[in-house]
Amino acid sequence: MVIKNIAILFSGSGSNLEAILEKVHGKVFGNVKIVAKLLICNKLGAYGIERAKKFGLTTTIIENKAFSSREEFDVALVKEIEKNEIDLTILAGFMRILTPVFTKNVKAINLHPSILPLFKGAHAIKESFDSDMAVGGVSVHLVSEELDGGRILAQETFQRDGKTFEEWEETIHKIEHEILPKTIINILTNKENNA
Ligand code: GRF
Repeated sequence: MVIKNIAILFSGSGSNLEAILEKVHGKVFGNVKIVAKLLICNKLGAYGIERAKKFGLTTTIIENKAFSSREEFDVALVKEIEKNEIDLTILAGFMRILTPVFTKNVKAINLHPSILPLFKGAHAIKESFDSDMAVGGVSVHLVSEELDGGRILAQETFQRDGKTFEEWEETIHKIEHEILPKTIINILTNKENNA
């Protein structure tokens, strides 16, 4: 049995964190056991911290506002990730722009609520809903120096079908809660030779 350690970074509600903990943490896939060894949140009071407690997991808080530059914050993240011997880092609703200090030193994937390369940035759900597109979607990609720009590992789309904004958002979250755990498993069990 091979143990693969993951780190999950989040900033807010943590519904994707919860989906990963439910579907992946402590579970065995073939000869690989995946363990969520490190959880990091940059916001004190984020609801994800409470969700993690249900799984008996403590979240390490590293508040970005305690650092005077993005680079110094990233140094603290990298230190924690390296100390914990993490095989794969997952950005699950982690709302920070990362510098090369992080991207050059950490193998990480990010979840994004649009069909990349369309609608990069923090307002993807609203911008994709407001667009003329007949479909919406979700992407998982490798983290690179370019914001929301690394190689795409998985994507899923859905039809607009007259959805309201609430339905659009709900559909995105439903897909996210499946596609991110699935991609993590695929990477760590080498089903996808792409990370
Ligand atoms: C998700 O929609 C993710 O794609 C975006 O932020 C949201 C995080 O949601 N980057 P949650 O905190 O996992 O509930």
